[in-house]
Amino acid sequence: MEEVTRRMTRAVWMLLALSFCPFSPSSSSRTFQIDYDNDCFRKDGKEFRYISGSIHYSRVPRYYWKDRLMKMHMAGLNAIQTYVPWNYHETIPGKYDFTGDRDLESFLKLCNDIGLLVILRAGPFICGEWDMGGLPAWLLQKKSIVLRSSDPDYLQYVDRWMHVFLLKIKPFLYQNNGPIISVQVENEYGSYFACDYDYLRHLLKLFRYYLGDEIVLFTTDGADQTYLKCGSLQGLYATVDFGPGGNVTKSFKAQRYAEPHGPMVNSEFYTGWLDHWGQKHSVIKKEIVAKSLDEILALGANVNMYMFEGGTNFGYWNGANSPYLPQPTSYDYDAPLSEAGDPTEKYFSIRKVIGKYKKVPAGPVLPATPKFAYGLIQVKKLQSVAGLVNLLSFSGPVKSVYPLTFVEMKQYFGYMLYRTTLPINCTKGTPLASPQNGVHDRAYIMVDGVFQGILERNKVIPINITGQAGSTLDILVENMGRINYGGGIHDSKGLVTNLTLASNILTGWTIYSLNIDEAVARGYLTKLQKGQRLTPPAEVNVPSFYLGAFKIPNGIPDLPQDTYLKFPGWSKGQVWINGFNLGRYWPARGPQITLYVPAHILSTSAVNNITVLELENAPCVGELNTNCAVEFVDTPVLNGTSAYTSLHSRTFNRYSWHA
Ligand SMILES: *[C@@H]1O[C@H](CO)[C@@H](O)[C@H](O)[C@H]1NC(C)=O
Ligand SMILES: *[C@@H]1O[C@H](CO)[C@@H](O)[C@H](O)[C@H]1NC(C)=O
Ligand SMILES: *[C@@H]1O[C@H](CO)[C@@H](O)[C@H](O)[C@H]1NC(C)=O
Ligand SMILES: *[C@@H]1O[C@H](CO)[C@@H](O)[C@H](O)[C@H]1NC(C)=O
Ligand SMILES: *[C@@H]1O[C@H](CO)[C@@H](O)[C@H](O)[C@H]1NC(C)=O
Ligand SMILES: *[C@@H]1O[C@H](CO)[C@@H](O)[C@H](O)[C@H]1NC(C)=O
Repeated sequence: MEEVTRRMTRAVWMLLALSFCPFSPSSSSRTFQIDYDNDCFRKDGKEFRYISGSIHYSRVPRYYWKDRLMKMHMAGLNAIQTYVPWNYHETIPGKYDFTGDRDLESFLKLCNDIGLLVILRAGPFICGEWDMGGLPAWLLQKKSIVLRSSDPDYLQYVDRWMHVFLLKIKPFLYQNNGPIISVQVENEYGSYFACDYDYLRHLLKLFRYYLGDEIVLFTTDGADQTYLKCGSLQGLYATVDFGPGGNVTKSFKAQRYAEPHGPMVNSEFYTGWLDHWGQKHSVIKKEIVAKSLDEILALGANVNMYMFEGGTNFGYWNGANSPYLPQPTSYDYDAPLSEAGDPTEKYFSIRKVIGKYKKVPAGPVLPATPKFAYGLIQVKKLQSVAGLVNLLSFSGPVKSVYPLTFVEMKQYFGYMLYRTTLPINCTKGTPLASPQNGVHDRAYIMVDGVFQGILERNKVIPINITGQAGSTLDILVENMGRINYGGGIHDSKGLVTNLTLASNILTGWTIYSLNIDEAVARGYLTKLQKGQRLTPPAEVNVPSFYLGAFKIPNGIPDLPQDTYLKFPGWSKGQVWINGFNLGRYWPARGPQITLYVPAHILSTSAVNNITVLELENAPCVGELNTNCAVEFVDTPVLNGTSAYTSLHSRTFNRYSWHA
């Protein structure tokens, strides 16, 4: 069976390869339009309805794009929907990256080759449980900037980005023989406080200027008049979002408030739901999803399933909700295709429902990709972060009386080290505090290399520290991801207000930007381990690096395969394999226990390197380095129990946190 499928896939790919040709610029008879008289879309003049699924190219390695898109095609979808995260492409102001995993044009070509139309959600803001909703954090260099508004400080950067990006996608519009049938402007703007129609009008003009008059432009908002009021604008077709289990007719009625005529469109029909660290893993039953999908399709409506393939927040790309609750590394979403792209029972239920309304491609469906348990890998402590600060901080420290934020230091992700000395003797435990709740988001505190405690955002509880006047106070601050929804998206990260020790405001800081990703990718840490013998600090519970190496076994066919990384006894941190940042792990809080490791980052010819940055507590014991291991397993665990109860825990509310 498996071999048959593989052969079939190869055949399909040979066909695709033959049929591929760049889109010709000549005008064609291809049209995609809204028919207001008959409440439907028209493609090439014929009535058309899309059944689409969301996949974010930024959350799936390019290596697997084909595999996932083929599976979406096999489910009976005729379109996919994707977000374009601005901050993924313009990481440095004025410099654009569309290479490798960021190669949007190749992704669009692939969709076209497979026969999937594309609904492009162009931003500038996307939400999407993505850091800062896709806005680049460098926008915050101007402190007074009003994001997502007609503030000229904001618009000048929007205009510059859109000039580059919209010109890039123009050849991919349906009218130009490409796959893009419609383009979304902004995202759920009705959920944002600004309600600035001039901003939406500006975007409308900009999109029309670059993309022309023919392309269908649309907006998306929660299925309620209160959202549609500030989210919709004449000239942008208003669509709605709603999940399964509710009254479908009633939800589409909300769309009719903004669009009395035209096709019914649910732009985000939730197949699952997102997770937060410290909360239960979200699961939505396939029966509920199938029933509501059936109802939507029976009404003749258009639908996009959010997500169809969730993928992974690799590196530091996860967002957060407010009151501050960051999302984990996995964006599995309990979607019909798992985080690793495997068809689930939900996938087959959905395929069956779609089959009632249109012909789905004949099977067999591509199978799950094989997974391999490479087993326990011993790692060894290298040094604490503070002990390696000169190696990790490429630009050297900056001195400042009061703390500077990440944005002020022009470091936008990851970790920074703040160093000062204790101004007073703290022989008895003395309270160190952030009275204005300015630790964004988590601070690991050491005095003369000895761990003292953790300050966490929204927990305004001081910790007691001990040390002599003049002792070195080191504070490693982690940015755990920017808020992606609502009013809190403006966040500079780091120590954003002063810290106090007893009644003293701490001053005289030496602040280190840390280039951890670059140092890991360039092998600096591995070289250090091989070179001079460092004496590792005795403490196991200060933020430190642990290194390991492993070989892919010989004699087993089809290796390397995907795997999952587990952290038995470890607490919280970040992990890299061969310089690829897999994301954050936090089994001590959950619910995510294993991290997804895609096969393409593993090497069969060279020894694979693993770098673990443990922030709290490693399980390693004594000289013999006992228990100091991570483990590769062949099944994911995303629903681990979470011991943590949030101080600001709130009830699970499907409509307060839109995707
Ligand atoms: C669903 O909503 C419609 C329109 O508001 C209403 O007429 C209908 O009775 C509702 N159905 C159910 C089962 O509540
Ligand atoms: C701290 O205590 C030491 C002796 O324990 C003393 O010599 C020193 O003057 C004290 N420093 C301050 C700033 O109080
Ligand atoms: C810090 O010390 C004070 C006074 O001794 C005590 O009341 C408080 O509970 C301590 N706080 C922590 C977090 O241990
Ligand atoms: C830190 O304290 C100083 C002195 O009171 C004050 O001028 C400064 O504004 C404070 N910084 C922040 C970010 O609150
Ligand atoms: C692992 O690190 C070693 C030493 O830096 C290097 O020679 C090797 O190529 C690395 N392996 C991979 C797969 O990158
Ligand atoms: C987690 O999911 C697995 C597989 O679906 C299930 O067997 C297990 O009971 C779940 N555990 C918890 C704590 O919900």
